[in-house]
Amino acid sequence: MTKETSSITSGRAELLPALKRELKKNGCLTREIMDTVAGRSGLPLNEIYGVATFYAYLPLAPLGQYVIKVCRCLPCDMKDAQAVIGGIKQELGIAPGETTADGKFSLELVNCIGACDQAPAMLINAKLYGNLTPQRIVEILKSY
Ligand code: FES
Repeated sequence: MTKETSSITSGRAELLPALKRELKKNGCLTREIMDTVAGRSGLPLNEIYGVATFYAYLPLAPLGQYVIKVCRCLPCDMKDAQAVIGGIKQELGIAPGETTADGKFSLELVNCIGACDQAPAMLINAKLYGNLTPQRIVEILKSY
């Protein structure tokens, strides 16, 4: 193994911890931050981007004060999660992956959040809401 190969291998092993540190420091992983990590680790930018976009908890842009994570998996989908997502879109005027102009809410679609028995379900930051309907969405969002 050459010195350069060894350095890149070490960079790969340290990539996820490095991205988590940058997330903690900056709140998101912008292109500039990924450029910096690429420079430090010796890894190509596309590899950094690939890892950053693989994990849903590594945002590429600043998130709102409240991050809404709606489950998009089959059990929730079969209980009409699409109506819930539609209700949020209508109430907040944002689509999944977007943040309201005032920076209050971000909307994300995620895989199972472990509340299948309460489908359809969502998290707002760490608070779980289940058995959602479009009507409940309006009440819940107004409480924030
Ligand atoms: S499938 Fe939606 S919470 Fe598990």
